[in-house]
Amino acid sequence: MARLSLQNVSKWYGLVPALQNVSFDVGDRELFVLVGPSGCGKTTLLRLIAGLEDVSDGKILIDQRLVNHDKPKTRNIAMVFQNFALYPHMTVMENMSFGLRMRGYSPEEIDQRVRHAADMLDLTGLLHRKPSEISGGQRQRVAVGRAIVRKPKVFLFDEPFSNLDAKMRAETRAELLRLHERLQTTMVYVTHDQVEAMTLGDRIAVLKDGAIQQIGKPIDLYRRPKNRFVAEFIGTPPMNIFNVTVLDRGDSVWLDQGHFQLKLPARYHRAGFLSDGLEILFGIRPEDIHDRLFETAAVSEGNTVIAMVQLVEPVGAETHVHLEAGGTRFIARVRPDNPLEMNQPMEMVFDLEKINLFSKDGKERYSFEG
Ligand SMILES: Nc1ncnc2c1ncn2[C@@H]1O[C@H](COP(=O)(O)OP(=O)(O)O)[C@@H](O)[C@H]1O
Ligand SMILES: [Mg+2]
Repeated sequence: MARLSLQNVSKWYGLVPALQNVSFDVGDRELFVLVGPSGCGKTTLLRLIAGLEDVSDGKILIDQRLVNHDKPKTRNIAMVFQNFALYPHMTVMENMSFGLRMRGYSPEEIDQRVRHAADMLDLTGLLHRKPSEISGGQRQRVAVGRAIVRKPKVFLFDEPFSNLDAKMRAETRAELLRLHERLQTTMVYVTHDQVEAMTLGDRIAVLKDGAIQQIGKPIDLYRRPKNRFVAEFIGTPPMNIFNVTVLDRGDSVWLDQGHFQLKLPARYHRAGFLSDGLEILFGIRPEDIHDRLFETAAVSEGNTVIAMVQLVEPVGAETHVHLEAGGTRFIARVRPDNPLEMNQPMEMVFDLEKINLFSKDGKERYSFEG
């Protein structure tokens, strides 16, 4: 049983803040995923949790006990590093048992733990090989096994699969989920890859410049991103964003992009705070923009935009069409058999029930729910 809690944790390197007021709780046996671009502070955060660095400010608690001043050894946390290093001259078995031997466990106990971990990770047949005699993915599993044998309270994973190719990563992700099921241990998993984050996490925290932007279930981050950064970071292709001005026409509220106008659903009008002339950002996902001619989409007053086709990207099951309207480029997902032609105008239907509106600076999402 292990619950992890961070309360207003900050870390400075000299005058440079690497983490700012980071707070979150990870439940017992939860798989919590932290995602953010390179340099946003992910590794630093894990190092603080593991006790490899001291926090500058704030509290770290495990099972409600303050561990800020506990040494790494006594925290009972295992970290699997991005650039894990196996000892090249040792076998898989020796690599996995090394930590236990250092801690003075009995040979029987070590043997039992290593075999159990090897079984879980499908490494049993490889125990007597050297790292140079197994594949990259298998080496990665050995690094995980080395952590498992310690039976830690909390596992920390620092982009452990980033050196594997795409197919291997997808397989390894599935394995990690199974492993989490079997081990029933609290895990914090860090990645810069939002697809990986979305597929792994029960809950995800998005980190940018050392600060948490949003914590939530994958679908919530996708549908209701708290700000422009999250909107564009989660999802591929990213959410389209337009600079628009609010037009209050008395009985309805419209968004004016210059080249086109869109009529907002009635609830936006009822909410009342979109005042005439207000400059805001309008966001819509590529799958919520449909080709009027080739797809079934309900056309209503003020929900279509004429745009020029600039680039066609077939990706198999769908096609991404890059469009331009009034100086803004955007992307729509269309059917793969859509007979698209470059430099041709296309009439697109915007599903205005699925949009997001943000403040002009992108820092805040306007909520019109409920
Ligand atoms: N030991 C250190 N000394 C000074 N700056 C550091 C140190 N470790 C990390 N940083 C800085 O802290 C920020 C976050 O780094 P890091 O946690 O490694 O990011 P990530 O893992 O998300 O790529 C970066 O700007 C990095 O340069
Ligand atoms: Mg890192």
